[in-house]
Amino acid sequence: MDQRPLGVFDSGLGGLTAVRELRSILPSENIIYFGDSSRVPYGGRSDEILHRYARQDVRFLRSFDIKAILVACGTVSTTALPLLQQENDLPIVGVVEPACRRAATKTRNKRVGLIATAASVRSGAYERGLHAVDSEITVISKACPLFVPLVENGRIHRGDIVIETVAREYLQPLKEQGLDTLILGCTHYPLLEEIVQDVMGPDVTLINVGQESAWEMKRTLERCDLLSPDRVGETTLYVSDRPQDFAVQASRFLHHEVHDAVRCIDIEQY
Ligand code: DGL
Repeated sequence: MDQRPLGVFDSGLGGLTAVRELRSILPSENIIYFGDSSRVPYGGRSDEILHRYARQDVRFLRSFDIKAILVACGTVSTTALPLLQQENDLPIVGVVEPACRRAATKTRNKRVGLIATAASVRSGAYERGLHAVDSEITVISKACPLFVPLVENGRIHRGDIVIETVAREYLQPLKEQGLDTLILGCTHYPLLEEIVQDVMGPDVTLINVGQESAWEMKRTLERCDLLSPDRVGETTLYVSDRPQDFAVQASRFLHHEVHDAVRCIDIEQY
């Protein structure tokens, strides 16, 4: 048993897809979340910059006495996870492996699609992860760079002509490839689940990487005997810019008001 909080981070709102799942499967845990809202989006940046951001994000979370970290960001998971694990003496879980395992069990025709940020697609990490589970899987990847800015601006609802047009543009060519499983490889993308499912059709299984990573964190805490004792866990949210804007979107997504719970920090100090 360990009552210290979990640290979770992303470039912005996306990691809340993991937090929502953590809240439901690990209700006793205290969670400290950091969304790097002053530097979102991460997905178009170089590996060098991403390593610097990832190290700062982890240093900020480690300024609290945390017991484990969930990298609730596909871009950091695909480009910096081994580095972070090497440099830190606590369990650090990313989103890639659990999502690949789930996709491999779901696919019937072994044609799996991946949509993610440019940095994640460039890294090839999801392909490696899928092939580690099943070398016969064909992976069809596509970077969707406009999705994160649109999600951060709240353009996530059915009937919004901008997001629907962009989604069709990105996803129609994938649909024509006959895949039966699609990994939403960026944690922002599950906020677009309905829009993506509408384009891909009901027969394509969507894999939510935030959700899968939350389950991986649960397994890790169990394995390392780090679960919290029974209590009502709390979530504390930090961002690096515009806490009010983040609070509005986060409240909608988490289905409860978080307005007073979002604090702003200067990430460049870490
Ligand atoms: N949500 C993150 C990811 O999973 C970051 C996206 C971005 O900032 O571009 O990749």
